[in-house]
Amino acid sequence: MPSTSYPRYSTYENAGRTPSLLSQELPRPRVDVGDIYYPPNTLLEPHFSSIDESRRFGAACFCGFLEDTVEVEHCLVIPAIASVRRLPYDIPEHAEQDLYRLATDEGFHAEQSQCFLTGLRSQFGLGRPPDRTGPLFLRRLASQRSQEPDASQREIVTVLNGVVTETRISIELGKFAGDSRLADSVRTICRTHADDEAIHASQFKALGRWLWEEFDEGARAAASRAFTASAIARNLPDVARLSRYFAQATGRTLAESESLVHSLYTEDVQIEELQVSARPTWSFLTDLGVDQHVSFAAALNAERARLREEMAER
Ligand SMILES: [Fe+2]
Ligand SMILES: [Fe+2]
Repeated sequence: MPSTSYPRYSTYENAGRTPSLLSQELPRPRVDVGDIYYPPNTLLEPHFSSIDESRRFGAACFCGFLEDTVEVEHCLVIPAIASVRRLPYDIPEHAEQDLYRLATDEGFHAEQSQCFLTGLRSQFGLGRPPDRTGPLFLRRLASQRSQEPDASQREIVTVLNGVVTETRISIELGKFAGDSRLADSVRTICRTHADDEAIHASQFKALGRWLWEEFDEGARAAASRAFTASAIARNLPDVARLSRYFAQATGRTLAESESLVHSLYTEDVQIEELQVSARPTWSFLTDLGVDQHVSFAAALNAERARLREEMAER
């Protein structure tokens, strides 16, 4: 039975604040010796021969985070909003209008991230990624979406991918903003973005909940599979990229770096990291009732087996 009411959600007005794009702040990294750009990697930390190597690795990781942010804003969240109008469900006008307002925030977040990224790359002499294929998780999400034979279902998957990413980003950014070990410039850019994303998370959760109420049982089962696959793809660590950063930071060969990083990032470690970063998403999905249709534990075990196979082939 389709619902008639749309869930309540936060807006800038009822939160008493304004979008960060209105202040147009573009923080840049300062050229200070000693600034830390990313929380230390506990697995790799013992393998750096100096603090400088560790800092370079952290800077490379934060560049990766900023590259992901630019990609997520333009290739995941804004497309998700654009797809809402192509769904066979009539979203209330006020909710659709507020989503478009949110899309303008995302353009600014991408600009802000790109500005910081350019400064940080130049400060550490880090180049652009050698491959121009975009982040691993986006390629995986695109492949999952393309496997849907039905055009309408592909639009739904695009929207659900937006819901998944927006349930986690404000918490991830909030962790950076609250980490006193990190450079002030990192904490500032993450704090202003996190403030906006708290509003976005509320709106995307409302969108996800409203769609769930509109779906019939068959659509819920399909959405549950898509939600779960999306959450796994979005939260899996990109081990190949970590190896590249390690090589960049230490001057060791890529082969040596891959061998070390792969020996530390076993399938169990990767699944554990995935579970930590996916926690806010799992919690929202469980609240919806997705676990009535899909077993998260079984999906994680299947992913673990896939990773084991992938690693054995190396
Ligand atoms: Fe954003
Ligand atoms: Fe957002």
